Amino acid sequence: MKQLILTAAALCTLAQGIGAQKFEGLAQTPPMGWNSWNTFACDINEKVIRETADLFVSLGLKDAGYEYVVIDDGWMKMERDPETYLLVPDPEKFPNGIKALADYVHSKGLKFGIYNCAGTLTCGGYPGTRGFEYIDARQYAEWGVDFLKYDWCSTGAGNGDLPYQQNAPASYTLMRDAIYKAGRPMVFSICEWGDNQPWLWGENVGHMWRVSGDIANCWDCELSYGGWSSWGVWSIIRMRPGIRKYSGPGHWNDFDMMEVGNGFTLAEDRTHFAMWCMLASPLILGNDIRTMSKDVLGIVTNRELIAINQDPLGIQAFRFIDEKGYEIWVKPLDKGEWAIAFVNMTDGRLHIDYDWRKHTVKDTLFSRDIDFGKQTFDLRDATHNKAAGTSATNFVRDMDAHDIVVLRLTPKK
Ligand code: GLA
Repeated sequence: MKQLILTAAALCTLAQGIGAQKFEGLAQTPPMGWNSWNTFACDINEKVIRETADLFVSLGLKDAGYEYVVIDDGWMKMERDPETYLLVPDPEKFPNGIKALADYVHSKGLKFGIYNCAGTLTCGGYPGTRGFEYIDARQYAEWGVDFLKYDWCSTGAGNGDLPYQQNAPASYTLMRDAIYKAGRPMVFSICEWGDNQPWLWGENVGHMWRVSGDIANCWDCELSYGGWSSWGVWSIIRMRPGIRKYSGPGHWNDFDMMEVGNGFTLAEDRTHFAMWCMLASPLILGNDIRTMSKDVLGIVTNRELIAINQDPLGIQAFRFIDEKGYEIWVKPLDKGEWAIAFVNMTDGRLHIDYDWRKHTVKDTLFSRDIDFGKQTFDLRDATHNKAAGTSATNFVRDMDAHDIVVLRLTPKK
């Protein structure tokens, strides 16, 4: 009898497991879009989201590849509906509801994203999804959601009302299965800040995972708030050495929504954006695009940088040289091409005079290398959209403080 019960239990587990998976075929290149959090925090409403969708089209962001318009935390009422347990959109912020808003975003040829959390409460204190995974996933599918960012607040002892810590792979897998059951393909964006090494288990669970705590609009800093910190651009870039091998088509290391246009110098904006391209990170804008300057728009719609980010190989760059004052990053591209970024890390101008033939590049993880003695490359400056000679002569450039030059290398025939 005991054996029969055990067999039945095993069959049930098997049956639940069958067909439970993430939606494949999504995010084959890093997702591109916009998210409300970095600029608006919880102070959001449907007018801002609609205006943003309109501007995706009129500013050419859609043509450049930006697709997902994502509402972050703060969209719900503080309580679920007491009878249906459904999440209720805040009627003052979203008087027409979420479905109408998703329809509007879709009518522009764009995709619509939303936010919730694996814990009992979101980070902003709104109702979390814990215990309501299948209900919420079905609700999102009915609304027409294409992208779910799923956070990690209130998931355990000392963090919310649970006496124990939720298990991250289990919690994210549960929501993955709920989305799959709901039947609408959604990019599943894991946001547990890298605390549980999502790169080790995320590939079969989600399409991208945050590698750090929240980004801040500073070059290289840690802003500490007691129990947690937010991090500058270079703090995040350096935070997790060794994870590039886990990123690739359908499963990306996510370096967080960008702070481009949120107070940096133009050189720093350019470097921040170009590094996210080099790192094959999702390109999620975090500025107020209604007030973005022409210069910032030019940076975030630079097609040559975006093409490096969206390269079909999907290989994340690695730091090749870390010299006093500058760094060189290298990203293998499809068809034997490469992207190489020179970054001025100093607070002043920097003169670069780089002899290609003195450096052999080896990417041992992805088995690719360059011997500049044997192969010459045409160089294209992808940051400034102009030809830059060949690798037969030195690359010489004067760079502003914190600025970047990204070169695209094409093998010479
Ligand atoms: C966490 C996430 C942020 C944002 C906020 C919302 O801090 O990491 O990106 O979603 O929650 O409250």
